[in-house]
Amino acid sequence: MTVLYKADPVRGAQWSALFAQRAPDVPFRVWPDIGDPALIRYLVAWHPGDLVQTLPNLEAVFSVGAGVDQLDLASVPAHLPVVRMIEPGIVEGMLEYVSEAVLAIHRDLFDYALAQQARAWKPLPLTPASARRVGVLGLGMLGVAVLERLRIFGFDCAGWSRSAHTLEGVRCYAGADEFETFLARTDVLICLLPLTDATRGLLARRVFDALPTGASLVHVGRGPQLVADDLLDALARGQLRSAVLDVTDPEPLPPDHPLWTQPRVRITPHIASATRPDTAVDSLLDNLRRHCAGEPMIGLIDRQLGY
Ligand code: GLV
Repeated sequence: MTVLYKADPVRGAQWSALFAQRAPDVPFRVWPDIGDPALIRYLVAWHPGDLVQTLPNLEAVFSVGAGVDQLDLASVPAHLPVVRMIEPGIVEGMLEYVSEAVLAIHRDLFDYALAQQARAWKPLPLTPASARRVGVLGLGMLGVAVLERLRIFGFDCAGWSRSAHTLEGVRCYAGADEFETFLARTDVLICLLPLTDATRGLLARRVFDALPTGASLVHVGRGPQLVADDLLDALARGQLRSAVLDVTDPEPLPPDHPLWTQPRVRITPHIASATRPDTAVDSLLDNLRRHCAGEPMIGLIDRQLGY
């Protein structure tokens, strides 16, 4: 049951070494050294391209990352399960990134950065965390973990997703009907939605204007979910106070893009979190075991929904 890896070759070498250590009986190959295509049962890839069609005995396709939007699902035969990466390393990175971003917004660090530039010693009133309403869009594994972490700081936490959820200490909103109500109570909006036709362009004027005036955005979903012009406009109008963007459209963001020079926008180059081979290998091995035992794999996507 050979596993073939096709993504970043440096990480591929790490995966290979980890497989040799932890599952020496599972042959692991790094593309383009695929050997006999008929022996490949599992493909772990970021952009598989046409590779899937050349592997006659493939049994499952695994995204090497948390998202599957980069995969052309139409090119993966319908009988093959597609699985996204759910592993502790990705969660940990995301918790750090979002916690830092929310705390920076909460503690007015955008304002203090501007004040520092002006050499102005200008204390602002402290707002208790319990009076700061954070809201997470998307209640998958990452969204739920982020809310659990933010609760520790005492924030007033809510989440929204397409379908109903129940989370301790978190007000959960679901579906289109409750979207506006969720937005109206959210001071810091965190986007952790997958990219689908339904979420492309979602972070636009309609959403920004439904938030309380002076709200902020933390965008750790996918670049094409954000309408950059609408964000710039909402910031210029004071409707939004600040934005932390880890994803942009396109990536890399071109040097002349107006977002770069916004003092109330902080941009990082899609580094909020990444799959960590040392933890991801165990999650993949667990899924291979599940697949062989006929048990449901963790992170199996619904191809109709696209996530
Ligand atoms: C990163 O964005 C990922 O999908 O893992």
